[in-house]
Amino acid sequence: MSANRKVSKVVIPVAGLGSRFLPATKALPKELLPIVDKPIIHHIVKEAVDAGLETVVFVTSRPKILIEDYFDPADLTSHKLAEVHKAHLIEETLELSRKIDIVSVRQYHPQGLGHAVLQAAPVVGGQNFAVVLGDDLIRTRGKTTAIGQCLADFQARDSGSVIGVLRVPSDQTSLYGICDLGGADFTPSTRSLKVRGFVEKPSPSETPSNWALPGRYVFEPTILDALRETLPGKGGEIQLTDGMVSLLKKSPFYAQAIEGERFDTGNKLGYIIANVAYGLDDPAYRAELSALLKELMHHEGLI
Ligand code: G1P
Repeated sequence: MSANRKVSKVVIPVAGLGSRFLPATKALPKELLPIVDKPIIHHIVKEAVDAGLETVVFVTSRPKILIEDYFDPADLTSHKLAEVHKAHLIEETLELSRKIDIVSVRQYHPQGLGHAVLQAAPVVGGQNFAVVLGDDLIRTRGKTTAIGQCLADFQARDSGSVIGVLRVPSDQTSLYGICDLGGADFTPSTRSLKVRGFVEKPSPSETPSNWALPGRYVFEPTILDALRETLPGKGGEIQLTDGMVSLLKKSPFYAQAIEGERFDTGNKLGYIIANVAYGLDDPAYRAELSALLKELMHHEGLI
């Protein structure tokens, strides 16, 4: 890998209100809701750490200070647990904290995802950087993580940015940024294709493809210049996708078809399903949980 393709920082925007999860998010950041026994943000940061990224830049807002506390190895809970010899209960969190530096920047006036990423400019400016969004968890079961797959593609190329994509059902295109691949398609041996364009949340009748952006990006630093010039778009917000469309005129983008299972924890049903799926994956719960689920379905007259 050439030195100019090195990536060490990942921007994770966490400033959103989490209004789709009210009332649960009235006093608790959405990112701290658990999937089984670990908060969503733990899974997201672990994905980045496992890909070799070294610095997390959280783009936060006022109520999100608890996210920083979660990764703080010296907070009150950690001390108390150490005193009563129960530090092993938070060992997986402490291990993440040891492996990564955390920097927080505030987004004072939320103006969209593009605006959120731009707030990280003082930390990442002039360097390549990754962005991981927390709505979609992508399970890769010990194989290279989703952002790791994008990084590998980025580092195999001399120039350009890499965007992770996953195929979504036709009725879901209006929930995502969508990639225009000019009609080309991935094959088992071709997991990376040149991007022709991006459209933010197109309706199923307008969409150029079913390849959606689940929030895994590796950018060259020029994305920040493009975002500085991006005007408010869909929903009156500065869209990351619009910044990418304007950068695409000067520099190539590649779509990396991510190998993994996606769980959309950005909506309540997806969140419930993620808990069941991750619970079934855990040897401590698998047998009992599957038996209880069957019993419950039977009791409800569903099977
Ligand atoms: C954002 C992006 C969209 C992307 C999605 C992934 O939308 O604008 O392009 O596909 O995240 O979660 P949001 O979910 O914030 O509305």
